[in-house]
Amino acid sequence: MTIYLNGQFMPIEDAKISVLDRGFIFGDGVYEVIPVYTRKAFRLAEHLRRLRHSLDGIRLVNPHGDSEWAGIINELIARNPGEDQYLYLHITRGVAKRDHAFPNPPVAPTIFMMSSPLSAPPAELLQSGVCAVTAQDNRWLRCDIKAIALLPNVLLRQMAVDAGCAETILIRAESKSEGAFMTEGAASNIFVVKDDKLLAPPKDNLMLPGITYDVILEIAAAHGIQYEVRRIAAAEIFAADELLLTSSTKEVLAITQLDGKPVGTGKPGAMFARLHQLYQDFKRDVMRAS
Ligand code: PDD
Repeated sequence: MTIYLNGQFMPIEDAKISVLDRGFIFGDGVYEVIPVYTRKAFRLAEHLRRLRHSLDGIRLVNPHGDSEWAGIINELIARNPGEDQYLYLHITRGVAKRDHAFPNPPVAPTIFMMSSPLSAPPAELLQSGVCAVTAQDNRWLRCDIKAIALLPNVLLRQMAVDAGCAETILIRAESKSEGAFMTEGAASNIFVVKDDKLLAPPKDNLMLPGITYDVILEIAAAHGIQYEVRRIAAAEIFAADELLLTSSTKEVLAITQLDGKPVGTGKPGAMFARLHQLYQDFKRDVMRAS
């Protein structure tokens, strides 16, 4: 596997970073996960826009313009095997003596990128759907930043794995102004289907604005699927006809069991079937056109 580190391509075994890297010491950095189909990065402009948003959010200067990023990304794709890949892009505030405050003067950021094989979810998973558990969303208030500091997400996702499930759906506890509501998954976005309508939580500071989430809403708009973007009360996920999970690596999956109880009929529903097919068509059309 060939990776990219600070301006150079090399075998992953040769890649070395300092133990003083602020990513290692503080989790002080941001990342992106970009799917690649038929050797072309999918929705690259959108991923690079979100990367800029994350960098702005942690006050780190973007080390490259979009065309430079595209050059590095295309070279990494070319140097790795497989038509379909997913890229992991990671930028930290660099190497400096340990101090919480930013290095002054600033140091060069650490820029790391690797490629892994990407395979579509297996047919059995599409047919059966996956199970999920719920847990309290105990993360910070800037979940819109794709931060490499993922300890809460790691612990929350492990709760699903411990229960033999695929994902943990996160619920923000009720506050003085609002009742409990659903934000997203530990590593995915979540949609609710009720009475043939798709419900999506708003892209605010409490969830990661998913690139797949945007594609799903674009598809819904283009095909006359009714949808509404609004806060989703916790009770609504337990009364859903269908629950859907989306991410760049999992595309769209049906959640058919929640906390051990069936969601709707307990089988992937009509909205899932439709969106899954439309997503495949969308992908194919975009890749053909690019
Ligand atoms: N995670 N929300 C969270 C917390 C995520 O970690 C992800 C994706 C998403 C979906 O975003 P997108 O559609 O842009 O992939 C939502 C990636 C895949 C990961 O960390 O591996």
